[in-house]
Order: sequence, then C-alpha cells, then structure tokens
Amino acid sequence: MTTNRKPLISGNWKMYLNHFEAIQIIQTLSYQLDASDYEACDVSVHPPFTDIRSVQTVLESDRIPMILGAQHCHFEEKGAFTGEVSPGMLEKLNVKYVIVGHSERREIFGETDEHINAKVKAVFKHTMTPILCVGETIEEREEGNAQSKVRGQIQNGLKGVGKERVASMVVAYEPIWAIGTGMTATPGDAQEMCSFVRDCVKEIAGGTTADTIRIQYGGSVKPINAAELLKQPDIDGALVGGASLEADKFARIVKYRLH
Ligand code: PGA
Repeated sequence: MTTNRKPLISGNWKMYLNHFEAIQIIQTLSYQLDASDYEACDVSVHPPFTDIRSVQTVLESDRIPMILGAQHCHFEEKGAFTGEVSPGMLEKLNVKYVIVGHSERREIFGETDEHINAKVKAVFKHTMTPILCVGETIEEREEGNAQSKVRGQIQNGLKGVGKERVASMVVAYEPIWAIGTGMTATPGDAQEMCSFVRDCVKEIAGGTTADTIRIQYGGSVKPINAAELLKQPDIDGALVGGASLEADKFARIVKYRLH
C-alpha cells in the first residue's frame, strides 16, 4: 500500500553562500517557482547558520512558501559547547527541518549513532522535523555490507522515538560514494535502497509508519537525473547539495515533474 507522500526537495548549502548571496538566491528562486510547484512538492533550504536569520526574514516578509531548514544542531538545550547551536535557537528562527547525521558530520566531525539519536529526539522536542541521513561508503557497498550499515544507522538513529514521530520524519538515503562526486546511484539502485530503508522502518515501527515516512535520495542529484530518480515508488524527494547552490538548477530539480 502506498499513501500520498508529498515529495520534499531540500537544498543543503553546506559551507557555501554568505548571507548576502543567500538573500539573492532566495529571491531568484522565488521568481522561478510558482504556486503549482509548492503544491506539487515541499521545498526546503538549509543555509549555513550565519544566513538563517536573513533567509527567515526574506521568506516571511515576501511570503515565500519555501521551508526554512538547518544543516545541524547540538542535542543539548544550552551549555558550554563552544561553536555549537541548540535546537531551541533554531526553533526561535522558525526553522522546520534539521538535517541530522549527514555523512560529512559523521565522517569528518566524528558524530556517532548515539549523538545522532540524541539529536533526532532534541529536534522533535523543539517541534521541528529531523531529516536523518544514512548511507554506505563505496567499500561497504563493494563488500556487500551496504544494507547492514544502513539498517544499523536506522535502528540506532530511531531508538526510543515513538511511531508517530517516526512517521512524520524524513530519512535521506545518501550513498557516500555519490555525494559531490557526480556518480549518482542508478534509479534502480536508489529505489532498491530506499525500499530497503522503508522495510527497516517497518521492522521498527510498523507498516503504517513505513508507508507514511518520507524517504529522500541524495548524492549528485541534478536537473538531468532528478525526474528518473523521483519517479521511483519509494523515493519521496531529494536532498540536493551542489545543484542547490544555483537557483536555475535547483528550480529545475523542483520542477522535475515537468521534464
Ligand atoms: P551533492 O550533495 O548533491 O553535492 O552530491 C548531497 C548531500 O550531501 O546532501
């Protein structure tokens, strides 16, 4: 059984675009996207922390229905954590989605499944929605361990999270070998893994939850491959890095259904 899952197209800007550039790209995007685009899919942008207030102001003052997201946060409410930002601070800026456990956070900054699980809970506690990232390295794929890696990340990431919350969240399947490399997973491979992610959610939280949760694919999504990927039955959106930094490209991905 499939339910009507509205696709979510998210732009993860990573450590690109200062707040002036952020305002410019949001304004350009707002001219390129129209009501029919927002009706067909949800669109979120995830700027660096220093841009969030500026982007919030533009979205709210111009009534642009793009959803404000963040790339990361700490799991504690407050404290002596130099350089960190708390979920409560993001909530105050009307942030709705927070990317949790991106592979760059896991691999470069040493975030563990335990940190990520705590962040999923902290994000929910502040009435925002986590986008939990999972995915395997090229070595894990070649050794036939892609599924066990991803299953472990899902089981650990969702530990102690209630079914209703799981149903409302987003999982982004992002094979690490496809991120920023131009090597996209084939639509068939991406579908197979996203369907596997749904099966894992079913094991943990039941069929209804698995039918409702949205699963994004991420890893070198471009205007040229977005339609094929998003056509797959278990792919409910895309987490877009590089191609979200140019308004034209990101708008064409959002309009994938027209291609
Ligand atoms: P990419 O990044 O689209 O540049 O491959 C995706 C991501 O890291 O979320």
